Amino acid sequence: MTSVLFVCLGNICRSPSAQAVFEKLAAEAGLTGLDVDSAGTGGWHKGEPPDRRSRAAGESRGYRFDGQTARKIERSDFARFDYVIAMSSKNLAEISPKAPKNWGGHLGLFMDFAGSPDTDVPDPYYGGEQGFETVLDMVESASRGLIAHIIEVERNQPSSG
Ligand code: 4NP
Repeated sequence: MTSVLFVCLGNICRSPSAQAVFEKLAAEAGLTGLDVDSAGTGGWHKGEPPDRRSRAAGESRGYRFDGQTARKIERSDFARFDYVIAMSSKNLAEISPKAPKNWGGHLGLFMDFAGSPDTDVPDPYYGGEQGFETVLDMVESASRGLIAHIIEVERNQPSSG
């Protein structure tokens, strides 16, 4: 089973959107049995549901945010997840020192899977509604790339059992 953790700053806008989009597009691509979650590098919004603007924009495209609650990334996440995916290079710089040296997973930027020159999903928190649509556009593109990557990796893995 492949496990993916999406990480942003507050865990109420970008990474919950990434989780919602990735879960739906993965299911549509026939990629099942995933463990997907999201977290923030900061803990200010711990326990809160995703931002209502992220939910409104995402739900109008058919994505579901049920059961999502903000939390801060913790060291044990590296034992649980194969992929720890940062929304921006700033997020990645925060996470990198926390990764155990012998961890065998993939830590990197979400936009590396989008096939575009962009590196960062921009923080929409202090901006207008268009920012939330931009987040969804970028996250949809990167999700498609990450899904194709995981399907390829799983295909090349020796089957267990
Ligand atoms: P996110 O957006 O990192 O995409 O969840 C933010 C949410 C909250 C804050 C900043 C960014 N904040 O400063 O509280």
